[in-house]
Amino acid sequence: MVKRKKIYEGKAKILYEGPEPGTLIAHFKDDATAFNNQKHGQIEGKGALNNRISEYLMTRLDGIGIPNHFIRRLNMREQLVHQVEIIPLEMVCRNVAAGTICKRFGIKEGEKLPRPIIEYYLKDDALGDPLVSEDHVSAFGWASSQEMDDMVAMTFRVNDFLSGLFYAIGIQLIDFKLEFGRQYEDDMVRVILADEVSPDCCRLWDIKTNRKLDKDRFREDLGEVPEAYAEVARRLGVLKDEPKLKLVDRETTE
Ligand code: TMP
Ligand code: ASP
Repeated sequence: MVKRKKIYEGKAKILYEGPEPGTLIAHFKDDATAFNNQKHGQIEGKGALNNRISEYLMTRLDGIGIPNHFIRRLNMREQLVHQVEIIPLEMVCRNVAAGTICKRFGIKEGEKLPRPIIEYYLKDDALGDPLVSEDHVSAFGWASSQEMDDMVAMTFRVNDFLSGLFYAIGIQLIDFKLEFGRQYEDDMVRVILADEVSPDCCRLWDIKTNRKLDKDRFREDLGEVPEAYAEVARRLGVLKDEPKLKLVDRETTE
């Protein structure tokens, strides 16, 4: 085995140098963190499940004209992706109140929002990913106004498409987070969807029972975390067999 060059290690993924220039290998880990890294744990099988789920969703999104970094899945835990320069913003889109919007505005969890709302957060762990305004983005030069327009348009389009896709399998898309990056090709640059689309960065509730099928099971210690991820994968049709998954009890909360 040849040792690969590690480019970056994040909370849920490792990026290695890819086989060709302009490509990277994304390795999906079982590690889970929450509340700005204060809570750590391992969800056995999560990496493999998110790899499959993200492969499926990125492929479907490509099919409706959302350019993204996914090239092909390599194995259980790894996929080949285009290398991008990550724009340091988390684009959050919300349909139903959950998580931080409930606290911030005193809204009850589960309340339908008047319309889908997009928020921008600065990707900065040391600052705890603060909510920022469009004027902050422009004044500090984190993204150009054209890039912001493109990211907002793509985020709304992803919301419409994924809301319908999940509705068809009995799941309500409550909210999600997207990350975008700049892809440089010759003298051209374009903004494409990057990172992953998985139950780590979406809130997904069963339509009939409101059962949470996402990382909130880990954040809120609800149990049956891998089972929830596997349920999403199974309903999407990317998991044929019942996986033997068990949550490894290695959680440490600071
Ligand atoms: P929030 O309610 O905690 O602000 O999260 C909104 C959505 O964004 C939720 O689906 C979880 C996702 N998210 C991430 O994927 N990573 C993050 O770092 C944060 C803060 C949120
Ligand atoms: N992933 C982020 C963290 O590690 C936030 C979250 O998902 O709750 O803090």
